[in-house]
Amino acid sequence: MYLLAAICLAFFSSTTGTQTTLYYENLISERTAIAQGFALPQSNEEFRAGAASTVTEDAGTFDFVIVGAGSAGSVLATRLSEIDNVTVLLLEAGGEEDDFSDMPAMWMYLQFSEMNWGYYSTPQTSCCQGMMEQRCIIPRGKVIGGSSTINAVMYVRGNPKDYDTWEELGNPGWSYQDVLPYFIKSENSQIDGDSGYHGTGGFWNVEYAQPPSPLFSNFVNASLELDVPIVDYNGENEFGSAQTQFNIKRGKRQSTGTAFLDNARKRKNLQVKTKALATKIVIDPDRKVAQGVEFVQGDKKFVALASKEVIVSGGAINSPQLLMLSGVGPQDHLDELGIEVLADLPVGKNLLEHPLFPGLIIRTNYTLPSSDLETLIEYYLLGLGPYTKPGGIDGIGFIKSADTGDVPKVEYLFVPPGGSSSLILTRAYNYDTELVFGFLNQINPMTDMIIALALLHEKSTGRITLKSTDPIDFPNIDLNMLAEQEDVDNLVEGIEFLLDLVDTEAMRAVSAQAVSIPICTEFTELSKEYWECVVRRMTTTIYHPCGTTAMGPDSTTSVVDSNLKVHGVESLRVVDAGVFPTTVSGHTNAPAVMVAEKIADVIKSDYGYL
Ligand SMILES: Cc1cc2nc3c(=O)[nH]c(=O)nc-3n(C[C@H](O)[C@H](O)[C@H](O)COP(=O)(O)OP(=O)(O)OC[C@H]3O[C@@H](n4cnc5c(N)ncnc54)[C@H](O)[C@@H]3O)c2cc1C
Ligand SMILES: *[C@@H]1O[C@H](CO)[C@@H](O)[C@H](O)[C@H]1NC(C)=O
Ligand SMILES: *[C@@H]1O[C@H](CO)[C@@H](O)[C@H](O)[C@H]1NC(C)=O
Ligand SMILES: *[C@@H]1O[C@H](CO)[C@@H](O)[C@H](O)[C@H]1NC(C)=O
Repeated sequence: MYLLAAICLAFFSSTTGTQTTLYYENLISERTAIAQGFALPQSNEEFRAGAASTVTEDAGTFDFVIVGAGSAGSVLATRLSEIDNVTVLLLEAGGEEDDFSDMPAMWMYLQFSEMNWGYYSTPQTSCCQGMMEQRCIIPRGKVIGGSSTINAVMYVRGNPKDYDTWEELGNPGWSYQDVLPYFIKSENSQIDGDSGYHGTGGFWNVEYAQPPSPLFSNFVNASLELDVPIVDYNGENEFGSAQTQFNIKRGKRQSTGTAFLDNARKRKNLQVKTKALATKIVIDPDRKVAQGVEFVQGDKKFVALASKEVIVSGGAINSPQLLMLSGVGPQDHLDELGIEVLADLPVGKNLLEHPLFPGLIIRTNYTLPSSDLETLIEYYLLGLGPYTKPGGIDGIGFIKSADTGDVPKVEYLFVPPGGSSSLILTRAYNYDTELVFGFLNQINPMTDMIIALALLHEKSTGRITLKSTDPIDFPNIDLNMLAEQEDVDNLVEGIEFLLDLVDTEAMRAVSAQAVSIPICTEFTELSKEYWECVVRRMTTTIYHPCGTTAMGPDSTTSVVDSNLKVHGVESLRVVDAGVFPTTVSGHTNAPAVMVAEKIADVIKSDYGYL
């Protein structure tokens, strides 16, 4: 049916249709070529001239000044500006989204564009062993929509128990029962989900990418053979496998910029400034009250005052940096740098991640039919086909294991033939020659499926620190993944499940076989030691940093309270993925949006607007 539709389109397309196709052909070839050679920045150099300015100009006074138009910041600005007489300034370091970033399949190319901050981890020992200089790439969106503009658009909320845990840790109002209405509020669901769990009137579209690969049913059937049922993982029961739910609308990306902020940008009470880097939160040192934000735009320096609050939504890497530059952070670290401490808080500690084992290569006897660029674009314009999917990630599964209790230990991801491009993967993983040769070059994109694995509740934690007192410098990101042996053991256990998955009737039906990879050849292939070595070399992140400004009642172990107010500083909140006190059993975008939806109501109620 889809093919027929595409053929019809090809036959009957008007001149404008052809021009549109041509436009996309040029866009894709230009932008993918730029990505191949794009040099990522090593600092916020573009803002240096402005930061050096000796004059600070007045940018006005607003009720709320929000730093960062990312997943959380865009939603918060949209909700707060619903109140006519509330004025909001939203500062965003990056620029605008465009037609290229709207294409889900191009997500990895966006990492090699000015829409990415350009971070890498510090050289690691326990993880990232197969990366150049042992440094993992840490992409973060620097654009309207933030990381939701460069991410893989997977809509995954996590497990109900995750939120109950947040509440049990001393955060009233964050139980699953409390947060479910906020997930529902955002959503405009087009899927056949469980009733009572999905919204249809929200700003944020959720749909399946169609059609799934012909091998998708082999994937779910293989899971079924291992007693993993088919579920709506965002519904009643997370344990199971499913077609991935995506934040796309007729195949196009639904960042929080497109889905939320675009509705609000016409409002007179909301001002959005792009290419504006916040460099300091102005805090009255005696009264410990946040008063405004210093920022750089172009070659000028400004200060904007907040009559009600400053809200930091810079994400789990940048918010800690900005707080520490402003005197909010661990006493010993700030002392080292000579920064006056206004609040001694564990900012930047407790960096949580989901380590990602990029997968088993599974060769099949299926061959992807070749399709030309023009056809793929025509499909895309109809909201269909490979370009509507990030790396083809068609399926997802969550499994129970003996000792995880109510939450899954690992998640597995199904990438069918055609989903991976080794060319861009080489840059996106920062792999050294052993892994480029031993892993990436082993992938035959026409016949091979990849099943990847994410560890959901890592025991190891990392840390964000300042390199210097200069806001032009990037922060240090010490991932420290897999430092605890238990984390490696859990990934290896997950890989054993993947091997079982290959060994099923449904997989045999396509002659599926795990491809042996010439890595860690010093160990006996398939032995436990071999897998440990492979895991430590190949594992990267699934781009889910959180926890660095964790919420909690105790200011020695948390940075914000359950209303996301910074402990010990008035009129200052942090609203982004950094506030998650523990990881979620899924992905982090929908939870970041939920956090913003919920806090928007808390703020409205605090000021009597609700
Ligand atoms: C490549 C990639 C793939 C991912 N895939 C998925 C996925 O498929 N599903 C999923 O659920 N999650 C995914 N994630 C994670 C998810 O997108 C993030 O967890 C989420 O977007 C975080 O939201 P946030 O509001 O905390 O931060 P962000 O969305 O990163 O927003 C922070 C914003 O603040 C701006 N900013 C930062 N510092 C300053 C400053 N000093 N001055 C001005 N502006 C500033 C940034 O430019 C950015 O726009 C992915 C992430 C990446 C990077
Ligand atoms: C804002 O508007 C609301 C409703 O119109 C009103 O109740 C409130 O007093 C106003 N607040 C301010 C600060 O003007
Ligand atoms: C998967 O299982 C369903 C139901 O048993 C069956 O109809 C379908 O043909 C199977 N698909 C494959 C590829 O084996
Ligand atoms: C793939 O292998 C299966 C199992 O051996 C076989 O039944 C099927 O015909 C093969 N398909 C192709 C396209 O070769």
